[in-house]
Amino acid sequence: MHDKIVILTGAGISAESGLGTFRDVDGLWTKYDLEEVATPEGFARNPDFVHEFYNARRANCAGAAPNAAHAALARLERDHPGEVVIVTQNVDNLHERGGAAHVIHMHGQLDQALCAACGHRWPAPAVMNTADPCPACAAPATRPDVVWFGEIPYHMDAIMAHLSGCAIFAAIGTSGEVYPAAGFVDLATRAGAHTVELNLEPSSVVSAFAETRFGPASQVVPAWVDSLLSP
Ligand code: APR
Repeated sequence: MHDKIVILTGAGISAESGLGTFRDVDGLWTKYDLEEVATPEGFARNPDFVHEFYNARRANCAGAAPNAAHAALARLERDHPGEVVIVTQNVDNLHERGGAAHVIHMHGQLDQALCAACGHRWPAPAVMNTADPCPACAAPATRPDVVWFGEIPYHMDAIMAHLSGCAIFAAIGTSGEVYPAAGFVDLATRAGAHTVELNLEPSSVVSAFAETRFGPASQVVPAWVDSLLSP
């Protein structure tokens, strides 16, 4: 039985692709009030503003390219004899565009749309508007298919099952500020996994990790993957 590896990623893995993080010096939450653009209440108050926010992020993402860290994880997924599961907090599609085949988006995806009336999901257009009718029920109730603060992250049962059976757990490019993701390292440790944090600087939960590798993801992630794949 080969080692199962579960990898949690955050905004830091996409930073060198030009996408902003949230809590760094020039992060998104230093420019926008998350209550206004990343909560159901904010969306109810001003849907046009929220659609504009995600339309801008969708355009930013379309113009970005995956970096060496995304490519290294795709190589690990392809060449590691055991199962590799990428759980991302990111709503961008750079893991997929970097070649990863099995990505779990626990906070949803920018390139997906959701109807708040009937629950229908479909590929999001580049620009979404409040008045857009749902393709299935025609209600003007479309929203980005992303998980806002106060909402339940997606695929949690599957994520818990992966964590309970992994031999290695890595967290890459995440500040450890948002739960439940920040608590995954504790679950992996309880499952007996070796845990490693790969980040530009120590996260809020760095003390929970057995191993740390600090530096830009485009450098530390390929080196870590090489260490796992070399005999
Ligand atoms: N390489 C590696 N790590 C980096 C890099 C880089 N080039 N640049 C920044 N980082 C690290 C930062 O040091 C920080 O610890 O990435 C982390 C980014 O943290 P956040 O901005 O808090 O992003 P994240 O942890 O993904 O946020 C989690 O919060 O707002 C919600 O839903 C949103 O998914 C997001 C969640």
